Amino acid sequence: MALSCRDLHRTFRTSSQSIQVLKGIDLNVEAGEVIAILGPSGSGKSTLLNLLAGLDKPSQGEIYWDDEAIHTKSSHELAALRLKKVGLIFQDHYLLEDLNVVDNVSLSGRLQRVVDKARVKSLLEAVGLGERTDFMPKKLSGGERQRVAVARALYAKPSIILADEPTGSLDRVNARAVYEILVDLARSENSAVVMVTHDEGLVKTVDKRFYLEDGRLLEQHPKD
Ligand SMILES: Nc1ncnc2c1ncn2[C@@H]1O[C@H](COP(=O)(O)OP(=O)(O)OP(=O)(O)O)[C@@H](O)[C@H]1O
Ligand SMILES: [Mg+2]
Repeated sequence: MALSCRDLHRTFRTSSQSIQVLKGIDLNVEAGEVIAILGPSGSGKSTLLNLLAGLDKPSQGEIYWDDEAIHTKSSHELAALRLKKVGLIFQDHYLLEDLNVVDNVSLSGRLQRVVDKARVKSLLEAVGLGERTDFMPKKLSGGERQRVAVARALYAKPSIILADEPTGSLDRVNARAVYEILVDLARSENSAVVMVTHDEGLVKTVDKRFYLEDGRLLEQHPKD
């Protein structure tokens, strides 16, 4: 299994109250499988993705990347493993403004001091930016920036891609284009994708859909 979690709970405690956001989430995602998570605002979708990415710690429960437990690792160990195994995409592209397109895509390689130039080139061609390799992010359109973010997430051939509303800031046409590029590339490279979205129209081609409500995840079957 590329990604799985067991009985995941997350409670936030403030001085005046305790908010139980996730109340026992179980999920299994196979290599190359694409799943969508839908649910109302505030239901805990980003909270769940942050836990699956190892960016936050669960109050209770277990998380595995390629069957390796991550809930027991130190943040230092996790950061190193995340560079190899997990690609992250957010609603905001989070490109580094001082680096050009090529350097943004190969960021994880730069951190490890080895950059695969042929890999960067083929990814940029795949996302339709073969002619924009030396552009700085501020000279790109919103849709182009998000395509760079997709290429960056895929660069290290991750087992898992976690995308939190990756098309949420784009218009319908660009959203569809970015979504199709992400899903096609991930499938061709056998990366699992867990994508949070509000857009019911975009998720018709995913392998499984889940709905997060009241702290629990329910699978939605196509006829529902
Ligand atoms: N660090 C935190 N401390 C306290 N409460 C938090 C924290 N992070 C999230 N929450 C609460 O957890 C709940 C779920 O938030 P989350 O961001 O996961 O929702 P979401 O489903 O991603 O919503 P949206 O669709 O609007 O992005 C919210 O009620 C939020 O206020
Ligand atoms: Mg969110």
